Amino acid sequence: VITLPRLAFLGTGYLGATYAICFAELGYEVLGFDVDEAKISKLASGEVPFHEPGLDDLLRRNLASGRLRFVTTYEEIAVFADVHFICVGTPQRADGMGADLSYVESAVINLAPRLRRRALIVGKSTVPVGTADWVEELVAKHADPTLGVEVAWSPEFLQEGYAVEDVLRPNRIVCGVKSQWASERLRAAHKGVFDLAATEDRDVPVVMTDFATAELVKVAANAFLATKISFINAMAEVCEVAGADVTQLARAIGYDPRIGNRFLQAGLGFGGGCLPKDIRAFQARAQELGAGEALRFLHEVDLINTRRRFRVLTLAAELLGRPVGPAGPDLSGTSVAVLGATFKPHSDDVRDAPSLAVAAALAAAGAHVRVYDPQGMANARRAQPALDYAESMVAAVTDVSLVLVATEWPEFRNADPTLLGELVADRKVIDGRNCLDPRQWSRAGWSYRGMGRPPA
Ligand code: UDX
Repeated sequence: VITLPRLAFLGTGYLGATYAICFAELGYEVLGFDVDEAKISKLASGEVPFHEPGLDDLLRRNLASGRLRFVTTYEEIAVFADVHFICVGTPQRADGMGADLSYVESAVINLAPRLRRRALIVGKSTVPVGTADWVEELVAKHADPTLGVEVAWSPEFLQEGYAVEDVLRPNRIVCGVKSQWASERLRAAHKGVFDLAATEDRDVPVVMTDFATAELVKVAANAFLATKISFINAMAEVCEVAGADVTQLARAIGYDPRIGNRFLQAGLGFGGGCLPKDIRAFQARAQELGAGEALRFLHEVDLINTRRRFRVLTLAAELLGRPVGPAGPDLSGTSVAVLGATFKPHSDDVRDAPSLAVAAALAAAGAHVRVYDPQGMANARRAQPALDYAESMVAAVTDVSLVLVATEWPEFRNADPTLLGELVADRKVIDGRNCLDPRQWSRAGWSYRGMGRPPA
């Protein structure tokens, strides 16, 4: 019987909390650590500080089992764990491009000197390539050299809204290591994932590689996904002038297995805490390394993405019969319901959300804007306090002259256009996520505009 290593997760934000909870569920003894005492006391009392389907139940179950605890001192995790996962944030730097590594640094230099036996420190945070080497130097400087503490890098690929599934059933595990010992420890730290897969007759591919490759896998994957989304949004721009329908185009090219049909949803573009920040940090790092040209296209990916937000503004002006001057459209005297504030459904995250950015831009253009979101209201109010908020979809759309669906929550996708039509002042809808059925809405008397598809 292999005894499972004891695990610590440093940083109980979205990533670390999800991992800590899910690995306790897999049978490990786990400590979640954060310097933020409010966050830790919430988690310790069974409350997940963000919205993620399924996570609350797992948290409470594993707290009750005793396998999962949350602490605020480095001392406790140093004494407890065999493998320490660094899950702290790497926010965008104030200069707007590179990543701020101060939380990673602080976690490592506080943990390393307190270790009393051999341990593995595993980076999970998304970082610029080269960070693992630097962490190794920090460990060499701050840990007792006789212990043989080692570093590894294992990026994560979890998607908000599907995080539990992505952690318990990942489609691959990537490990950057420098020694046999580190590779074996890291495999042991994932044994629960492999065992679960075996009981379900699945395989979890493992890519054992060097530090730099492991670090790059993460940003390359996100750059590819962002590019795929911007590609289809670029096609949407062409469809708009050619009178074509990007949703049908996406369906048709997606049947080619070399292309694949996922992440080809044209609309308001990508947002969130990862894709926009990661493609910018990746460009900045490539520039530093002298390979800036190789990633110049990511600048274009970013531009295509933000252009979609302006497209909604001109569509709104068009539908409302308002002029578009050199400074943009004048929407004064109009009222718009924005349905959706989160960057995607099944999340309460409003970071870099296209929906909120458009809501703010509509308001700046003079429209009276009322926002409703099924889960993101508290975060939206904090991020955009000047906007008006409604407590329900019905309250949001009542008496407005335009409805914008900005996040494809099921509540909006499944809304009855006939019922909503009786509430609004004018039946005009912009489907910012191409998630409504144009025929159904136009049959109910609505002027429908999608993103990259002909008017209906
Ligand atoms: C992303 C990656 O998918 C994940 O692997 C990584 O670990 C973190 O970043 P996440 O930010 O949770 O995950 O969201 P994701 O589902 O990738 O969506 C990102 C954005 O792209 C959302 O705003 C979404 O609305 C948008 N999107 C996605 C599209 O506009 N079109 C699509 O076809 C897919």
